[in-house]
Amino acid sequence: MMKPKIVIGNWKMNKNFDEAENLICEIGEKLENYNLETEVVLCPPLVYAELVTDIADQDNAQFYAGVQNVSEYENGAYTGEVSAEMLASMNVAFCIVGHSERRKYFGETNDIVLKKMLRLLANDIVPVMCCGESLDERKSGSHFDVVKKQIEESIYNLTPEQMERTMIAYEPIWAIGTGETATPAQAQEMLAFIRSLIEKKFGTEMAVSTYILYGGSCNAKNALELFSQQDVDGGLIGGASLKADDFIKIIEAGETVCKDN
Ligand code: 13P
Repeated sequence: MMKPKIVIGNWKMNKNFDEAENLICEIGEKLENYNLETEVVLCPPLVYAELVTDIADQDNAQFYAGVQNVSEYENGAYTGEVSAEMLASMNVAFCIVGHSERRKYFGETNDIVLKKMLRLLANDIVPVMCCGESLDERKSGSHFDVVKKQIEESIYNLTPEQMERTMIAYEPIWAIGTGETATPAQAQEMLAFIRSLIEKKFGTEMAVSTYILYGGSCNAKNALELFSQQDVDGGLIGGASLKADDFIKIIEAGETVCKDN
């Protein structure tokens, strides 16, 4: 039996305050009539986190609050940074870590990714750890090795108790924002491989229960086919999460797959 899906919207660095407020309210209102199995997480820019937590904290809320980044440090003299403890005090429940854009533009290494995950876990926030290969790496056939190293140098350092509270998102860099999606077979192949890595380190039960998502040009049209793959537990959505109707269609794809299984 398939687990309920998880659909996470990563807004990246988009929307001004009014636009962010409108989009959050629109998604909230449109989801009001649903009785969702699928878990939905909105990750707007950090500065708008409270707009999401305000709604996510309500009893009938249909989504959780997430953010896109956190400091690797505890509180203190780290100008411009935001700590996991601060996020937890605002009821932020999820945080993306190690996104390829952060690895590329902000020098985030596997070591930093691990530190951030540990800060989040210490504050009861679910890390969504991103991994994935570049186009060159895929073309040269080293994509499995690249992802294995990313997992081994971060996830493999967690205790089983920490792993239980962690999610993984596979996002091939060549599919991010390009309109070129991994084929359902490519997504399935890599997600099954990641699950086998979790099984090797943490055992079968953990491998089965761990949420592993696909991200990269996932949209209203292709979500159903992607989510129908055995090992695809949901999606990390960039561009298509910026329009309420598209995002909701992706959530509906999650619902459809869940009900059919
Ligand atoms: P797109 O859905 O815009 O390709 O972005 C994917 C992504 O990077 C989500 O984190």
